[in-house]
Amino acid sequence: MPAYSATAPGKIILFGEHAVVYGRPAIAVPVLQVRAKAIVNFDPRSAPGRVIIRAPDIGLDTMLSDLPENHPLAAVIWKAASAMKISHIPACTIRVTSNIPIAGGMGSGAAVSVAIMRALSASLGHPLSDEQVSKLAYEVEVIHHGTPSGIDNSVITYAKPVYFEKGKMIQILQVKRSFTLVIGDTGVQSPTVNVVSDVHNAWEKAGEQFERLFDAVGAITASARNAIEVGLIDSLGSLMNENHALLRKISVSSPELDGLVEAARTAGALGAKLSGAGRGGNMIALVTSESSDKIVRALVNAGAMRTIITEIHAI
Ligand code: PMV
Repeated sequence: MPAYSATAPGKIILFGEHAVVYGRPAIAVPVLQVRAKAIVNFDPRSAPGRVIIRAPDIGLDTMLSDLPENHPLAAVIWKAASAMKISHIPACTIRVTSNIPIAGGMGSGAAVSVAIMRALSASLGHPLSDEQVSKLAYEVEVIHHGTPSGIDNSVITYAKPVYFEKGKMIQILQVKRSFTLVIGDTGVQSPTVNVVSDVHNAWEKAGEQFERLFDAVGAITASARNAIEVGLIDSLGSLMNENHALLRKISVSSPELDGLVEAARTAGALGAKLSGAGRGGNMIALVTSESSDKIVRALVNAGAMRTIITEIHAI
């Protein structure tokens, strides 16, 4: 029987992380150089229901029936089966691989969910719609990190730059002029759930102050949307710098992130900020195609464990 495969990209948040959890808008873009991939191979000689999951990147090689139902990989499969109204999955092996850094703010969990749902639903002849895939990936994100805003599953499902507000239809951004980003990884793993929960505790203690910070982030995100849509790339850089300053006040930066942001700016980036939950994971710098190599070198010299150059194409 043929094998079915699907991939899903990584992502980074350009503007609005954390504030998006509190109802402000955020902008995210797919990162097509890194991907999660799922391959489904049916095994007609095995008994129905004998589903094997192989995810070598996380050292998992097991039967689906041996995983707790709320294990993120099992949950994806059960949710997809239930959306397809299938009670018994034919015997198969689902192999999952990914080169998206884990716990680095690049959406590895959501990308794995999207890739599995697409490969499995296509293999069973019931391809799920983008809307279904995004909704189910969101439900799995809830297991990964409690109160996700929904931005990861949206940008990764649609694989386009998105303007996102919780509870509203996502909007695909019209990018007037292409721009280039360098992503720098601190190498520090920082589970989103912990940072989101710390921000929540701080918001409970100093609600007014945090609401004002989130408002300021929301205003920056709205300006950034306009800059992207009219092609004012230079002004995006200063908006990134302002957003980073606010994220520091929200207390989600770290010495490693600040160091990489500073190194990128000194090397000539138009702007730089942390991206995602913070405290570790990745930062991003807006660069010109001529300066990208210099900024990559500066980031590596300042301790970046890995860098990615990615272009956001005009659409
Ligand atoms: O670390 P990431 O990229 O998964 O980003 C988390 C972004 C937050 O705004 C902090 C949380 C969320 O669910 O939007």
